[in-house]
Amino acid sequence: MKDPIKVLFAEHDIITAAIDIAKEADKLIETNEVGYEKLIRELINFFREYADQYHHNKEEKILFPEMSKRNELLEDGVIKEMLENHEDFRSMIKSIETFLDKKDYTKAQQQLLSYTEALLDHIAVENDEVFQMAESLFDTNELEKIYFHFEDCDREIGMQRKMELEKKLSEMQQYLVV
Ligand SMILES: [Fe+2]
Ligand SMILES: [Fe+2]
Repeated sequence: MKDPIKVLFAEHDIITAAIDIAKEADKLIETNEVGYEKLIRELINFFREYADQYHHNKEEKILFPEMSKRNELLEDGVIKEMLENHEDFRSMIKSIETFLDKKDYTKAQQQLLSYTEALLDHIAVENDEVFQMAESLFDTNELEKIYFHFEDCDREIGMQRKMELEKKLSEMQQYLVV
């Protein structure tokens, strides 16, 4: 079966790998400021494109509205909370970028760590609660329909770019090898 929830789980794993890189980036602040700034700008692009444009987009445009249609309590509860988190993430990323522009790397890293902690909490709630509910709300046919909508959504932004972003992670890991 084409399972859209598995797609989201797999994307969470990729996003978590980017978070692991972000957590280690602080060691570059002392040794290689140019490398630090370059890495963080690439991470910002990754979080904006992969985590927000590809991943959050599918949750916001397809999965969450479908779940809300089934259950209004979800709409005003956990789904609302997830959508607010997505908004908060966008402003946190902006603030990391502002600190980088000012070359305030210590504050940029602090903000990056708050962002990654909040994102990990968010991913845990989706993995443990939201996605479990989705699996029980929809039958096989409905899940398959959601899967094909997900594909359309990704295709609209670009499948090639999505794969490139996934590959970029291993390049980013190289920055940390001193
Ligand atoms: Fe989310
Ligand atoms: Fe998610």
